[in-house]
Amino acid sequence: MRSTIGRSSGWTALLFLLGALAVLLQPAAAVKENDFKKCHQSGFCKRNRAYADNAASQGSNWNSPYTVIPETTSLNAGQIQATIIKTINEKGETVRLPLTISFLQSGTARVTVDEEKRQKKEIVLRDNSAARKERYNEVEDWVIVGGLELDHTAKISFQDKTQVNVQYGPESKYEAVIKFSPFEIDFKRDGASHVKFNDRGLLNVEHWRPKIENKEGEEASDDESTWWDETFGGNTDSKPRGPESLALDITFPGYEHVFGIPEHTGPLSLKQTRGGEGNYEEPYRMYNSDVFEYILDSPMTLYGSIPFMQAHRKDSSVGVFWLNVAETWVDITKGKDNVNPLSLGLKSKTSTHTHWISEAGLLDVFVFMGPTPADLTKAYGELTGFTAMPQEFALGYHQCRWNYISDDDVKDVDRKMDKSKIPYDVIWLDIEYTDGKKYFTWDPHSFQDPVSMGEQLDAHGRKLVVIIDPHIKNEDGYKIVSEMTSKDLAVHNKEDKLYEGWCWPGSSHWVDCFNPKAIEWWKTLFKYDYFKGTLENTFIWNDMNEPSVFNGPETTMPKDNLHFGNWEHRDIHNLNGLTFHNATFEALLSRKKGELRRPFVLTRSFYAGSQRLGAMWTGDNQAEWSHLEASIPMILNQGLAGFPFAGADVGGFFGNPEKDLIARWYQAGAFYPFFRGHAHIDARRREPYLLGEPYTQIVTAALRLRYSLLPAWYTAFYQANRDGSPILRPMFWTHPSEEAGFAIEDQAFVGSTGLLVKPVVQKDKESVEIWIPDDEVYYDYFTYQVQKTHKGKHLTVAAPLDRIPLLMRGGHMIPRRDIPRRSSAMMRFDDYTLVVAVSKTGTAEGELYVDDGDSFDHEQGQYIHRKFSLSDNTLTSVDAEGRDTNAIKAGEWLKNMGEVRVDKIVIVGASSAWNQKEVQVESDGETWTAKVHYTAAKGGRAAFATMGRVGAKIGADWSVKLA
Ligand code: NOJ
Repeated sequence: MRSTIGRSSGWTALLFLLGALAVLLQPAAAVKENDFKKCHQSGFCKRNRAYADNAASQGSNWNSPYTVIPETTSLNAGQIQATIIKTINEKGETVRLPLTISFLQSGTARVTVDEEKRQKKEIVLRDNSAARKERYNEVEDWVIVGGLELDHTAKISFQDKTQVNVQYGPESKYEAVIKFSPFEIDFKRDGASHVKFNDRGLLNVEHWRPKIENKEGEEASDDESTWWDETFGGNTDSKPRGPESLALDITFPGYEHVFGIPEHTGPLSLKQTRGGEGNYEEPYRMYNSDVFEYILDSPMTLYGSIPFMQAHRKDSSVGVFWLNVAETWVDITKGKDNVNPLSLGLKSKTSTHTHWISEAGLLDVFVFMGPTPADLTKAYGELTGFTAMPQEFALGYHQCRWNYISDDDVKDVDRKMDKSKIPYDVIWLDIEYTDGKKYFTWDPHSFQDPVSMGEQLDAHGRKLVVIIDPHIKNEDGYKIVSEMTSKDLAVHNKEDKLYEGWCWPGSSHWVDCFNPKAIEWWKTLFKYDYFKGTLENTFIWNDMNEPSVFNGPETTMPKDNLHFGNWEHRDIHNLNGLTFHNATFEALLSRKKGELRRPFVLTRSFYAGSQRLGAMWTGDNQAEWSHLEASIPMILNQGLAGFPFAGADVGGFFGNPEKDLIARWYQAGAFYPFFRGHAHIDARRREPYLLGEPYTQIVTAALRLRYSLLPAWYTAFYQANRDGSPILRPMFWTHPSEEAGFAIEDQAFVGSTGLLVKPVVQKDKESVEIWIPDDEVYYDYFTYQVQKTHKGKHLTVAAPLDRIPLLMRGGHMIPRRDIPRRSSAMMRFDDYTLVVAVSKTGTAEGELYVDDGDSFDHEQGQYIHRKFSLSDNTLTSVDAEGRDTNAIKAGEWLKNMGEVRVDKIVIVGASSAWNQKEVQVESDGETWTAKVHYTAAKGGRAAFATMGRVGAKIGADWSVKLA
């Protein structure tokens, strides 16, 4: 007996110990996750999931209570206006929901549903709330910048009492079949269904209703319990308008993959969210939040959101953009059900079902019919804007930490980077540079002389970025707070009084950038003579703009706070970050009269459209291999969602990375569109020169690679600016027919350069497997080794610590600048190198776009845009747009570029017919010769020819005869 007791209590103790250990080992994951709502803790999400479950359980007996009144339906100049009737009870009482379907000239369709009673403001608010009565209808003013012209050629092709069919889009290839009872829309392309609305009957618009007080002793039903107020984490949301959520199911028949809806940490090809092996249990959430120590592989919300989703299957991409800025959840399931057997043999294919749920606002959805991924990104960009042409320096390397502690510290880092011959463009100051977290001030002890600091940086063309957050310290005597509050430019609380909360400075107020007057005021603060100590090489970092409020619900503002126009915070939450970013962008545009320079503003929080304003980064990651790995799909997804100027903190924000992790992170970072090293205030210093060998060398080599490829990066940004192409392109985007590549998320092409990179993201890994998407020839970037590739198969590429797995796809030409310099500014008028990776058929093509990288003169034609090609044994360069470049009146920059030349051309995979001593160069009616050095193929290495001192002007037409 005794021994049994003894043994069992031993086991109990052991189990207890193990349990305790388990708790200790996972606090980062578990505890933080619980600070944020799960769907069942968010009333409207829970209600809509329950609605979906109820519909599913009833199967074909389920009747969606939404019906279009046929008589109200008419198509006029590309737009259908109608009314949906929602039957709300068994007595047959109804509410009216105005419906607009707009067919746009681009071929995009837009479906908007409002609520008549709220439109007419015929509702009663509780708690004497001053909130607006309508559904939020101003998001379009912030987000949409074009592409709304209606397609007047859209026509009704069929109509009866049950449905109306509208043909629209290019060559009338698209058709919207609008069924009346229940209301459904089937978007077809070439006769087949691609996107279906309310196919599963989950449309749900929570109409306004008066609150009927429960009789004493009577409990609200489970469904109703969160209609009138809702408590989470000790905070109660007063909900003066009662329930008002809206939801819709959107099905992509025959589409197995969906991408987009950043920002999340999970895989590029989105997971299913209603449980099952390997799936999430929770919907993807979009509610911009400051998530402390975020976890990986999770549908949890992060700092920004872009509700644009694209579905992809072999040779077809379609998409939807859910234009709503309230808290939003998206459930995703996949299955073989619900596919019309008549539609192109899709019966056996998997379909993706999505269920979109927003707390408030309008139902407003754009539908894109593709058919290519590039068509989608373009159509989406026409609506929300394309990536701004960046300041050129912004593509260089950014050196940041929280914090450089003084102006001397900054100068010291600057000198040491130079001494170690490490290129960089920008050094950053985090919150500690301020006087007690009062933005627009400098700490009087540690930053006594910001001007001389800025000037030292400027001597090598370098820049300074300082942080400015939206919380304004509530302190007597602080001019900014008194100005802001006396002018009534801050966010209000639910009583319509000045809202107060906590952030870095302690008690703070928040500037309300929805208010045009607040933007005007904000602009005054950045003037050089107001924000003393800033110079023309000072730029801005906007952080905490979700907004982050340390003592607020889910670390943000109460939803019943009031913004300009009396919109509730609930209505506009996901847009808040964009409005702050926008105000700062506008401010930088007007720092000085007559100064017309592109702003650079980094933001943490974002929404669709933020791509027009600057760059984003993925927030507070950790110095762990898993976070390095997760950064790649996150950045790729940003590109798919139209916001490609993205990066992750190189080295990891929290913690102290091992040196091999730092080295690998810089190698990956050299391929992030936004490339910045950053670290938490408690992390040890880790500037590249501190690492010691071989790490400093390895990091320097990665930085030099980035700098030499800056012309290619800048050209990729130009392409994103022109048509929304991602800067880092995933395999399905470049090869939309290769199914095996659709879910690949750890390798990417850089723009259209044919450079295929797969960063090493695991410890002690000395090789990677690169998936090869086609039959083209691939060369190793560094050795010119011809790779033994097979289409659709993986290729093993050696990757010792000092090597980045990087291939050149045959058929491309890559512009570079090879002279190592301190910063991108110092390379401005350097000559170019062209690397030609010859295709299997002996051809290649390339593009170079270059402008002054700073002003808006490019909008007046002050740029060089070349198209290079190799065919018929001849290399040529012509203006990519067929302009007569001699006719362009050159400003100063373009004149200087007149002397910049193609210095070197390296032809990899050179034919033996090109084995000559010299070649003829022809340009502007003159001819001369350039020396060639031909190296024959050997041991698997491709033959290559190097031409030195080519001497052709980069902006002029030229040709080189190779044989
Ligand atoms: C949070 C940001 O994500 C981080 O990058 C920054 O260093 C801290 N705020 C301090 O400003």
